[in-house]
Parts: sequence; C-alpha cells; structure tokens
Amino acid sequence: MELTLYQPDIPQNTGTILRMAACLGVSVHIVEPCGFVLDDKRMRRAGMDYLQDVDLTRHNSWATYQDSRKGRQVLLSTKAEVSYVDFRFEPGDSLILGRESAGVPDDVHNAVDARLLIPMAGEARSLNIAVAAAMVLGEALRQTGGFEK
Ligand SMILES: C[S@@+](CC[C@H](N)C(=O)[O-])C[C@H]1O[C@@H](n2cnc3c(N)ncnc32)[C@H](O)[C@@H]1O
Repeated sequence: MELTLYQPDIPQNTGTILRMAACLGVSVHIVEPCGFVLDDKRMRRAGMDYLQDVDLTRHNSWATYQDSRKGRQVLLSTKAEVSYVDFRFEPGDSLILGRESAGVPDDVHNAVDARLLIPMAGEARSLNIAVAAAMVLGEALRQTGGFEK
C-alpha cells in the first residue's frame, strides 16, 4: 500500500501525511510540481523528525509517475460514486490524493483503475486531504493486513 500526492498545495497537509506514512510504514510518492518547496519549514514543523523516516519518491510529472508504477491506481475523489468502504483493496494499491485547490485534472481522473468517495453529510464539499488520506489508508491497511507487522 502506498500514498500518492498529486501536486500538493499546502505544506502543513503534506507534512501531516508524511508523518502518518512514517508511523504506519507506508511509502509516499509526490507528483510535482508542488505549491511549495519540499523543505518548507511549515511542512517540516507538521512532519517533525518523522520526515527523515519516510520512504519518499518525487516524480517530475504524472506521466513519469505512471510509467514507474505497477499496482492499481486508486483515486480518492469527491466526484467518485463508489464508497471506499465497499471497495476491496489489494496490498499493491496506490491511493492517490488530489491537490487541495482543485483535485486532479480529467486525464488523471480517467486514467486511474478506481475512484473512491468518502461519503459526506448534506452539502459538504470535501474533507481535509490529510483526514481523507487517514480514513482510506486505515481501511485499506485493515483489509490487507497492513497493521499486522
Ligand atoms: C480538499 S480536497 C480537494 C477539493 C477539490 N475542490 C475537489 O473537489 O477535488 C483534496 C483531496 O482530498 C481528497 N478528498 C477530500 N474529501 C474527499 C471525499 N469526501 N471523498 C474522497 N476524497 C476526498 C481527494 O483526493 C481530494 O482531491
């Protein structure tokens, strides 16, 4: 199981996700460009000393990222129709999160193997990206035995 951040915008969110990934032993891929430099002090503050333990790979573009991946690409999207709790995860899945400001473009949305929604109440627009990542990663690890280390 791995996490992919598509062109992240907000350094504190990325730091929080990187800290979670270090704590749970999950690799992270960042598809650039980011909306900040990757040693941003706000990101380092959120990620704390956990950042040194993250297995992090940076990719120059979506195309180079896609060429490098073998497992299924599973997009978390507010436009998806399938709830993540109804999805059968596999250990090799990459969970892709869109950018905070705009999600992902149509070509990314159309290229992935699956698109998952976290159902929300009423007219809510979206969850914070780090919260969304934690919810779906937790379920994916639970299903695939990822907590049995
Ligand atoms: C702040 S949201 C992006 C909001 C953006 N305006 C949009 O509609 O995609 C950042 C990312 O968190 C994830 N996310 C947030 N809420 C979600 C939800 N309810 N279901 C699935 N993914 C969600 C998605 O990957 C999304 O691209």
